[in-house]
Formats: sequence, C-alpha cells, structure tokens
Amino acid sequence: MSAVEQFSFRVEPTQHSRLSQVDFNNLKFGQIMSDHMLVAEYNNGQWEDISIVPYGDITVSPSLSALHYGQSIFEGIKGYKFADGTVSIFRPDKNWERFNKSAARLQMPEVPEEIFIGGLKKLLAIDNKWVPSLEGTALYIRPFMFATEAALGVHPSASYKFVIITCPVGAYYSKPISLKVETHYTRAAEGGVGFSKNAGNYALSLYPTQLANNEGYDQIMWTDAAEHKYIEEAGTANLIFRIGDKIITPHGETILHGVTRRTIMQLAEEWGYAVEQRKVSVEELIDGIKAGVVTEAFAAGTAATITHIDRIGFEGQDYNLPPVEGREFSNKVLDYLNQLRYGKIQDPFGWNFIV
Ligand code: COI
Repeated sequence: MSAVEQFSFRVEPTQHSRLSQVDFNNLKFGQIMSDHMLVAEYNNGQWEDISIVPYGDITVSPSLSALHYGQSIFEGIKGYKFADGTVSIFRPDKNWERFNKSAARLQMPEVPEEIFIGGLKKLLAIDNKWVPSLEGTALYIRPFMFATEAALGVHPSASYKFVIITCPVGAYYSKPISLKVETHYTRAAEGGVGFSKNAGNYALSLYPTQLANNEGYDQIMWTDAAEHKYIEEAGTANLIFRIGDKIITPHGETILHGVTRRTIMQLAEEWGYAVEQRKVSVEELIDGIKAGVVTEAFAAGTAATITHIDRIGFEGQDYNLPPVEGREFSNKVLDYLNQLRYGKIQDPFGWNFIV
C-alpha cells in the first residue's frame, strides 16, 4: 500500500457492543455479525464517505439497480488469532485482486487497495476481540459492492456502495459431503461470468442444489455448459482430486479462481507432488473411482476450507471414495494450513497479513 494515504476514514465506535452475547465455543457459519462494518460510497467517479460504523441495516431505494439487474459482487476472506493474540488475515491481496476482476467484468468501479485492504485492517483493529481463537474457527470477512443508482433503465449504475462486514464462524461443513454430478443445469458458459464472484452465480445454484438435496446429496458438482462432460466446481467451492500420483484441479474461465485452491496447488508443487490444472472429465473421475486410482477428492474454498467428499452420484449410481483417514495429501495440507494460519509455524510464503 502506498505510504501516502489518499482517503480519510471516519470511525464511529458502537455504544452497545454485542460481543458478550457470543458463544465462541459454539459458532455457526454466518449468523452473528461483528460490532462494526466499513461502508464507502462511489459517486461521480470517486470514492468518498468512507466510514467504520456500528453494524446495522442499510436503507435502499425500491428502484435500486442492483436489485433489478444484479450488479453485485463479493469476496470471502478469513482472519485468524494466534495464541499470543496477534490477528492475521489470510492472503487478502489475492481477494482484492479477484474482487477488482469481478468488478471489471460487471462494469463496476475498482476498489482501491487503501479502502479494501487498508479499510479491512482498520476494521479488524476495532473489532479484534471478535476474531475467535479456537482451532476450526475464524473471523469470516465479507467485502461486497452493489449498484446503488435508483433508476430502471438497463445501464451501468452511476453510484455504488462498498461494504465490509465480518462474523466469527465455525466450520461451513462439519463432516464430509456428497455431491451429485449435475448434467442438466449450467453454472457458467465460455464468455460468461463464471470466473467472477458475483451474486447471480450463487442464486442460479439454489434450485439445482435443492433438487440434489432432495435426492440425498449435500451439494452439486457443476459440469461444463456445452457438453456436461467436464467437471467445473461445487456450488460453494472449487474441487481438487488426487488421481494416481497427481493432484488435479479443473481450470478455466468458467470456474471461480479460488484463493484456497491456488494456495493448495502451490503447496502441492512445493512438496513435490505432480500437479495439473486441466480439464477433468466426469468419465475420468468415475472410471478412476471404480479402478481405485481416485484416492482423494475435496472441496476447497474460504468458507469450506478443505472439505472431504465421500460420495459422488452420477446418472443414478453412487460412487464411494476411500475413507477420509487414509487421505494423505488433503489431511496433510489441512494440517499445514491450520498451523500456518494460527501462527504455529513459520510463514515462508508471506501469506499471513498481520493486522
Ligand atoms: C467463500 O468460500 O468465502 C464463499 O464465498 C462461498 C460461499 C458459499 C460462502
């Protein structure tokens, strides 16, 4: 971040902290928001009115363009507390970069580093007591931006609101998950917005996910729009497989460019595994499970962290994966990342951003 600060931040501390109401030993995902939020307004081509204020409702116009035409993007980041009380955010620079790529695709303004990362640092300084310290818990950080122009014509909004809210969380998935291979509905096509983190990508997943839930699966495994032949991602996270001696993840512009996925693939490479980012067909996966060469499969994301997959459903048949205890790579990477994020080991990659 540049040494010269361009923006000023107004800070209005809450008079009524809700911290004492939180049971840090029993955290659910995304239910209780921390005391403060950051809000910034974009008007006439400039960011202004940047403030850290008590968490609370935002009033919007019924003709707010985000509600009608969907200019709305977000990120998911996690903050951790070390044993000595240090608060650290995991790779927020990568989320900031991705946020601005999403913004560009949806014809929204970029958010400067000083507001996104500098603002986050200030927000966590005031809400540092909200960062939980028990292993398996974290402060989930949700930056988001939406169009605020009150007008019904279809055009890029003239104004936007950027907000960061945070919440102490436990696991998103508390046990291994089952996935149904989706061969009818589509998440993203070439040239679309699959790589970006926009609200619509999640809205469109809800109906097919409900159908999968009705059949007893936790989530869906998206496949490509053209042929429904190649695996893309799960509804809430990227996918990584161990096939033979290789660590493989689907890749392409229709898939969210996950920070957790990138981190895991980098570690695999550092540790000497053969790594491939390429198309993975459903056939390769199913044949590999049948032949016993698919030994690991997991979802990777900020919220999901590393969630083992125990069962995959395809065309009415279920395929079970090997027991979780024997999964050498995913257990090793989960353990390593836990130790790194909670400050228990050295951080050779500079991934921990200390607040
Ligand atoms: C995240 O992993 O941070 C996400 O935004 C995914 C969402 C399903 C919670």
